[in-house]
Formats: sequence, C-alpha cells, structure tokens
Amino acid sequence: MAALLLERPRSAAARIVAALDTADLSRAERLAEALAPRCGLLKVGLELFGAAGPEAVRRIGARAPVFLDLKLHDIPNTVAGAVRALSPLGPAMLTLHAAGGAAMLEAAREAAERAGGRRPALLAVTVLTSLDSAALAATGVADAPVAQVLRLARLALAAGADGLVCSPREVAPLRAEFGPAPFLVVPGVRPAGSAAGDQARTATPAEALAAGADWIVLGRPVTGAADPAAAAAAIAAGIAG
Ligand code: C5P
Repeated sequence: MAALLLERPRSAAARIVAALDTADLSRAERLAEALAPRCGLLKVGLELFGAAGPEAVRRIGARAPVFLDLKLHDIPNTVAGAVRALSPLGPAMLTLHAAGGAAMLEAAREAAERAGGRRPALLAVTVLTSLDSAALAATGVADAPVAQVLRLARLALAAGADGLVCSPREVAPLRAEFGPAPFLVVPGVRPAGSAAGDQARTATPAEALAAGADWIVLGRPVTGAADPAAAAAAIAAGIAG
C-alpha cells in the first residue's frame, strides 16, 4: 500500500488549513508566502484551480503541503482518471463526494494506490457545511444532517476513504462511532465575532478541535483580514493548549 504524504498535525498552527479562494494566482502566492509559516496546509479549491489549473498546485505546493479541494463526484472511471491525473501534482489531501457512492470511492483509492510514490489522503465530503436541515431536505434527504453525515461516513470509510470532511457539529458523533483513526477535516469554522457568510453549520476553532477535529479549514476569516498572517497567528494562539 502506498504511504500517505499527509502527517498528523503536531502544533496548533499545523491544525489550520487556509483556503486560498481567489482567481488571482499572484494574490494566492502572496497569501501562501504569508500564511505558510502559520498553517499546516494551504487549500487550492475550485476557484483557484479553475483560474490557474495544475500550476496553482505546483506554486502553492512549493511553499506548504496542499489540500486540493476539487470535490470530485462522477462515475468511477472518470474519478479514477482524475485521481491519476492529479496525484503527480503531489497534493497531501484530495477531496471527493461521499455521495458519489462506494464504487466511485473504491476506484479513487485504487487509482491513488497505483499512481506510484506517496499518495494524497482521500477525504470524503459528507454534507456540505452550507446546508441546513431545510436545504438538505430539499435535496430529498429527510434525515437531520448528522444522520446523513454518519450514513455517508460509514459508506466512505468502508470504501477506502482516509478521512472525512464534515461540519464542526458532526465531529463528536463521528469520533464516537469511528474512534481516532479517520482524518476529520472541518470547514464552517468561525472565530467568535466573524461573519458566517454562506456557512450554516458552524462553530469556533476551539469548539471544532475540542470535539475531535484534526484540521480546521478557514477561508474568509483569514484571507479577508487586513493582515491574514496576523489573523492566522491569532487563531493558532487561541487554540494552543
Ligand atoms: O471562507 P470560508 O471559511 O467559509 O471557506 C471555507 C472553505 O472550505 C471554502 O474553500 C469551501 O470550499 C470549503 N469547504 C466547505 N464545506 C465543505 C467542504 C469544503 O466550506 N463541506
């Protein structure tokens, strides 16, 4: 089995993932320069990847481990091909939707194992942190978000996912069922006083970590601050033992 590129965080700062949500690669690189010493990983998502493609992963990856958050969700053959194409970029984490089903997740894991060298951790996105109960019900899922997260988590971990992306609210129930092994990566995190924006199921960094999150993902509270490095340092100071 291929070893993971990802290492468990050993400091408060290493638990922070900063989301570089911008279409401007130069701005992303400036943010990366400032934030790399204060974070564990830097996240390249759909906006930056859409604008700058694989080059964004290479440039950001030169400064810090990359969380490549493309939330893959397609038929197994297509997702396996995407994993083969993306693995050589060397992201430490790669996301795919648990709702894509067991065969899709198994195909992704097999493709990652066969890509050669150390592989990205495959993280299954459960229920987006922007969905509340009513928005989830409108997709046809009548259960509460936590029940759907647990259902998707069972499916994803059995199919070979290394971890999960979930809201802070589901971390404790996931740890209760699955113990310490799965990586839990948690967006929807808001320091006290920050605007929630489009996030629905939120908590503070300290609450998310106390519940058992391994990493917390912050975008706008860090990148939208006048001094992003100071904002990240303040969050790290707030969560340090
Ligand atoms: O700006 P904000 O802190 O809300 O950014 C959160 C980041 O985490 C965004 O880049 C978003 O794409 C990502 N994310 C999320 N919810 C998920 C998975 C990823 O908010 N379920």
